[in-house]
Amino acid sequence: MALMTALITGASSGIGYEISRILADQGHDLVLVARREKNLIHLARFLEKEHDIAVTVIAADLANPKAANRVYQQLEKDNIPIDILVNNAGAGYWGPFTQQPTENDEHMIQLNVLALTQLTKLISQGMVKRGLGKILNIASAASFVPGPYMSVYYASKAYVLSFSEAIRCELKGTGVSVTVFCPGPVSSEFHQHAGTTNIFLMRKAPIMGSAQAARSAVKAMQKRKAIEVPGLMNAIMTILPRFFPRSWVNFVTKWVLKP
Ligand SMILES: NC(=O)c1ccc[n+]([C@@H]2O[C@H](COP(=O)([O-])OP(=O)(O)OC[C@H]3O[C@@H](n4cnc5c(N)ncnc54)[C@H](OP(=O)(O)O)[C@@H]3O)[C@@H](O)[C@H]2O)c1
Repeated sequence: MALMTALITGASSGIGYEISRILADQGHDLVLVARREKNLIHLARFLEKEHDIAVTVIAADLANPKAANRVYQQLEKDNIPIDILVNNAGAGYWGPFTQQPTENDEHMIQLNVLALTQLTKLISQGMVKRGLGKILNIASAASFVPGPYMSVYYASKAYVLSFSEAIRCELKGTGVSVTVFCPGPVSSEFHQHAGTTNIFLMRKAPIMGSAQAARSAVKAMQKRKAIEVPGLMNAIMTILPRFFPRSWVNFVTKWVLKP
């Protein structure tokens, strides 16, 4: 008998894939969302076989402005109320702002910011009515500082942190909690897509495994924590900028984001 139903965006790889496995292990029914339908179906069949749960697959490109609404319509049609929402799907692109194609900027803002906001709005309304729910938004250690050469990505993750903290305050007392997870570098497909495999940060910083990051994120959500920054070094790197002039912080960030 499943406990609650969880929707995970970006379940086809990386952190979202691992979060899906953990929540399935805990007996939750799942709704898996991403573009690569084959990967989702493969994961769904595997999880249904391993656990006594129901897994629904919704293939959607969340960079399409209508996609979040379509996902929600599908949930309504299939009568699947969501008790756990994991807004994990995200993408980044490395490169000087003036040389980035506009489509990349729009893709990041639509996916990392708008789709996350729309899904949170649509799904949290039902959670509040039922007086029960958990929302886990995947931000980044990037949320705490501006990111030269990844300006739009870092800004999009600053939005996720600010938005999540604010609605957490608004939802206090409703039975719905909001947790924002802010990992440093994690080993996943993200860096191949982003073009960041050769930047200084990725060559020198400790890289966390996707499974470890997922465990930490789910644990924080279940404890209804406000913000989780996994790993001591990441925690230090997100606190230190508060004590230095912003110009110094920007100088250092630009340096670590260089090839
Ligand atoms: N890796 C890191 O170092 C790191 C650090 C901090 C924060 N994060 C954040 O962690 C989250 C997960 O990233 P990850 O590291 O696990 O990377 P990943 O392996 O590339 O996973 C990204 C997931 O998002 C989905 N996705 C991408 N574009 C999408 C779109 N347009 N519509 C729907 N789904 C889409 C991908 O599925 P499809 O391709 O099948 O659509 C995939 O399942 C992201 O929000 C990322 O910003 C990552």
